[in-house]
Amino acid sequence: MAEKPHFNPHIAAAPVYTAGTSAEEVAARYGVTDVIKLASNENPLGPSPKAVEAIAGALEALYRYPRVSDDVLRERLAAHAGEGITPEQIATANGGTEMLSLIALGFIEEGHEAIITPPTFPMYEILVRRRGGHVVRAELTSDYRYNVEAILEAITPRTRLIFICSPNNPTGTIITHAEAERLMAGVPGHVVVVFDEAYVDFVDHPEHVRSLDFVRQGRYVIVVRTLSKSYGLAGLRVGYAIAHPELAEYLWRCRLPFHLGALSLAGALAALDDPDHVARTRQVVIEGRRWLHRQLAEMGLNPVPSQSNFLVFRPGYDPQQVYEHLLRRGVVVRPAGFFYMPDWVRVTVGTREQNERFVTALKEVLDELGAREAAGEAVSRPSGQITL
Ligand SMILES: Cc1ncc(COP(=O)(O)O)c(C=O)c1O
Repeated sequence: MAEKPHFNPHIAAAPVYTAGTSAEEVAARYGVTDVIKLASNENPLGPSPKAVEAIAGALEALYRYPRVSDDVLRERLAAHAGEGITPEQIATANGGTEMLSLIALGFIEEGHEAIITPPTFPMYEILVRRRGGHVVRAELTSDYRYNVEAILEAITPRTRLIFICSPNNPTGTIITHAEAERLMAGVPGHVVVVFDEAYVDFVDHPEHVRSLDFVRQGRYVIVVRTLSKSYGLAGLRVGYAIAHPELAEYLWRCRLPFHLGALSLAGALAALDDPDHVARTRQVVIEGRRWLHRQLAEMGLNPVPSQSNFLVFRPGYDPQQVYEHLLRRGVVVRPAGFFYMPDWVRVTVGTREQNERFVTALKEVLDELGAREAAGEAVSRPSGQITL
């Protein structure tokens, strides 16, 4: 037999990220027009028109390499963060996900440990395992709060990273500033704490962690943010980190030259000049999640109170079955098994009209499954299976 290439066993064995189903796929598969996608926590209002215009204006210069240094963007991001943050404390990447990948590249070697807090964003585990690292779990409490003591107890001399997602995907719950202070008080110097704040612009809880305080105090923390959610630029792929200058410089070394495309740079700069778009998005999301929470609670589906632009709820039936029935009605949601919540479904907050369509479709689906069950037909129950 021909000799095979030597595949890196860690990469070969790590789970692969599966994305939410696209509206186009659903339209083609079920012949439904007017599909609404509430599966990937995208912005219900679309991108900032200013960003779209700037991207169109940058097209003619595409034959040139983008600026090697993205100093201008880093300056703008620092000014945007405020609170005395300087450009030396900023590093950029192609989305928050690439920033997380650079962090894993920079800090995880074979046999190192990273602490994650399931249920949470699966990319932490995927990226750590790709590097040959071990994932140590400090689960959230039964009401999906951070268990600071469990996290501190999980630290060993081999721990390199702790991932804190706030608001957390998929629960929408947060770490409070008091909890984060307790955590930081117990974290030793060899451990870097990553605060993933992809959804921070949707928070209205007054006690949410003020992670930039830790950056300003010179602690070894990395705050990851993105333009994919509140800025409506998920397709552009721009994310960034706010960190101790030594960490920001180190992350810079982990990147490739010309790493942000010319269109990304142009679109990001313009989007940062459009705070009204973010403010409008925030308003639609906060109103929408209140309304959706009430509806789901009235249906007895146990939604977890969310500080983000999505909610998880427990439909009582197999989430995959509920998902497929909703697809046939042109509504795309996300079974949460991939996010360590096998009995739950996650729905992104949409426009008022989209939220209403989702609730109507969900009621129909649950009624239909209930009627089938009453007629003695087999309906599948939650499998309890984490699909990561
Ligand atoms: C918790 C969390 N972090 C980071 C990201 C990264 O998003 P992006 O790579 O689009 O910036 C996501 C996207 O869904 C997320 O849910």
